Amino acid sequence: MRVVIDRVSKTFTDRRGQTVPALDDISLSVDAEEFVALLGPSGCGKSTLLNIVAGLLRPSAGSVYFEGEHPAGPSVTAMVFQEFALFPWRTVRANVAFGLEEAGLPAAERARRVRAYIDLTGLAGFEAKYPHQLSGGMRQRVGIARALAVDPAVLLMDEPFSALDAQTRQLMQEELLQIWERTRKTILYVTHNIQEAVYMADRVIVLSRRPGRVIASVPIEVKRPRTEAVLGEPAFVHAVDRIWGLIKSEARAALREAPP
Ligand SMILES: Nc1ncnc2c1ncn2[C@@H]1O[C@H](COP(=O)(O)OP(=O)(O)OP(=O)(O)O)[C@@H](O)[C@H]1O
Ligand SMILES: [Mg+2]
Repeated sequence: MRVVIDRVSKTFTDRRGQTVPALDDISLSVDAEEFVALLGPSGCGKSTLLNIVAGLLRPSAGSVYFEGEHPAGPSVTAMVFQEFALFPWRTVRANVAFGLEEAGLPAAERARRVRAYIDLTGLAGFEAKYPHQLSGGMRQRVGIARALAVDPAVLLMDEPFSALDAQTRQLMQEELLQIWERTRKTILYVTHNIQEAVYMADRVIVLSRRPGRVIASVPIEVKRPRTEAVLGEPAFVHAVDRIWGLIKSEARAALREAPP
């Protein structure tokens, strides 16, 4: 399924009635089965944009629509959150089942799907554990399994691995790429890490500092499957350099700016 973001702007009004422009006239699309990374400095509106695509927030202007075949039943989008956002009182199994219960799936089908996504995300053996009994990496596997279980056409990921240590993060990135090769979802992946964006994506969309505008769309020519070995390849290094060149002045300006 293709996602089209068409001239989306978003302005918030805070408690004192001050307006905060978060997104300014964003147009971009993500093709079916494409992996697009959305890269931008802190506070540039990345989560806001993802929430608009998920239908959790309404844009102040513009629209988001989806193109392509989509079987009835499954949700169009599902989100994986930065802070995992699991239900602490539910076991791993019950967390993964959540969206399926909401969708009213029969118990047998629910159990079958939960089993399949627990296996796919490497959670076998942890079904009866609660989130507090799991490491950060395992928790985010639950977040990913829960999102995939509803069989969304589009997976939205908001800095899913930023709370993890560097080694776990690298492993989870590789695992997510393997899962994506198998499930072929359309993925919109938010990050503020250039290396991560280049490592994962077919294309990196670079946003300016707040209010977020699209600065560039950079195709990534690094071959797949990608493993740690690609980190030293010329195509990888070149893409990282190019994107850093595009955002350097934005990053410097953001550093000098007072927080909103
Ligand atoms: N509900 C809200 N009310 C008022 N302002 C908001 C609201 N949500 C977000 N903002 C503001 O909009 C801007 C964009 O926020 P957003 O969370 O989308 O940025 P982000 O790019 O995801 O940042 P980060 O990288 O830190 O996660 C920020 O200035 C933020 O303070
Ligand atoms: Mg955010």
